[in-house]
Amino acid sequence: MSQVTFAKLATAAISIALSAAATEPADALEFTDSEIRIIRQHSPLGPPPPDPSNRFAEDPAAARLGQSLFFDARFSANNDVSCATCHIPGLGFANGAQRGTGTGGQLTTRHVPTLLNNAYNRWFFWDGRADSAWSQATQPLENPIEHGADRLQIAHLASHTPEIRAAYERVFGSMPDLSDRTRFPEHAAPTPDVSPRARAWRSMSVADQHAVDRVFTNLTKAISAYEREIVSRDSAFDRFAANIGSHESASAIPESAQRGLRLFVGRGNCRLCHSGPNFSDGEFHDTALPRSGGLRDTGRWGGTRRLLMDPFNSGGTFSDGVRPVLRFVAPRQDSSGAFKTPTLRGVARTGPYMHTGQFKTLREVLNFYSTRENIPRTHGEQGIIRRLDFTESELDDLEAFLESLTGRPLPQELLTAPPSPE
Ligand code: HEC
Ligand code: HEC
Repeated sequence: MSQVTFAKLATAAISIALSAAATEPADALEFTDSEIRIIRQHSPLGPPPPDPSNRFAEDPAAARLGQSLFFDARFSANNDVSCATCHIPGLGFANGAQRGTGTGGQLTTRHVPTLLNNAYNRWFFWDGRADSAWSQATQPLENPIEHGADRLQIAHLASHTPEIRAAYERVFGSMPDLSDRTRFPEHAAPTPDVSPRARAWRSMSVADQHAVDRVFTNLTKAISAYEREIVSRDSAFDRFAANIGSHESASAIPESAQRGLRLFVGRGNCRLCHSGPNFSDGEFHDTALPRSGGLRDTGRWGGTRRLLMDPFNSGGTFSDGVRPVLRFVAPRQDSSGAFKTPTLRGVARTGPYMHTGQFKTLREVLNFYSTRENIPRTHGEQGIIRRLDFTESELDDLEAFLESLTGRPLPQELLTAPPSPE
């Protein structure tokens, strides 16, 4: 610890002692000016950043259609899976299990992340293999272990379901005529194999493929417009931060949570990665999780390669504008094993945790940060990630702080299928 920080901590300790003795309410911790400055960087959470790749992102009619698609299990191989099967609204849009269960009972390879505050992400998926929320949504629909649907099945379903078609046309204009089954087969998708679906796709003209891709990506742009409404904000912590230094703030979160906050922005160094109002720097780090079985997951390394090859990335034909970050992306060997820093808003309700789902409780996550043995040697993480040796009461405090990040409940009408997609 530098002498300056030590001096600051000492001053803070003295001021806590003094404030406890004075007329302050017993549960008010006194924060230094520099702590207050840092704490204010975490609150309030403003609106999500614009998405230049989706010009329907703020369109409420697109969001209603997207919400309806989100809950619609017909967009799957066996009518058994919707987005809400794995992203369950009552469980913070995660699923409460280590893995997701897709069509036919298949398990996903990674843990289901929360969708709360998805619109604040710069990259999507644990490995960042998508650079927009709408291009992200194209993947589960065609993933054989998730929805297991295919592009033509999805386009046909949207086209011959009157209420979906009407909602679609209100937002995106007329839907192409897909009725000629020789031009538009029942099932087809550009999978890199020799399956009947892949062959059917290759039999289509480029113009017809393009027309189907347009319908497909418009549907996922609608889903991402809905996701922009799933925002966790106005937590007890935000009420605390808004009034920090005043008497009101003291009652917003328990004293234990305030001590946890001090650790979070101080000795815990948590804020270096869980930074800003969404408690995520949006980037990738190797936290040196203990292996939880299976093959080594290359994380960001594989994710970057897939992002650059994805025809639906924000530099592609179906994007309404390049997301600036795409220009700077390149696979880096040292990003292997790095995963995206998740938001911590709402985190008390979205367990289990990490891309592996290997920690059931927040306490287990905190114990991991406290007692870790193997420190990563990649991209400068050594200096940041170290054994923190928290005491039991410090662990209680950090847990109480993380619990104070649970936001105001979302409006009930966002948590189920809307009465109609229109
Ligand atoms: C079978 C379970 C399952 C289904 C169904 C499913 N997902 Fe997911 N979702 C996951 C898993 C697992 C991940 C993490 C995968 C990874 O990172 O490799 C994920 C990741 C995501 C992410 C990235 C979040 C982030 O922080 O980067 C978004 C957004 C998302 N899903 C939205 C959707 C939408 C929209 C649908 C429906 C079209 C959907 N999911 C269907 C399991 C599922
Ligand atoms: C070097 C960057 C970094 C630092 C420092 C850091 N984290 Fe993390 N945190 C991450 C990443 C990356 C993940 C996801 C890891 C994974 O899944 O492989 C994560 C995951 C988590 C999760 C699980 C969230 C979820 O939804 O799965 C919690 C809780 C958490 N961190 C809290 C903390 C706390 C508390 C501290 C300080 C003691 C801290 N983090 C320090 C980067 C960091």
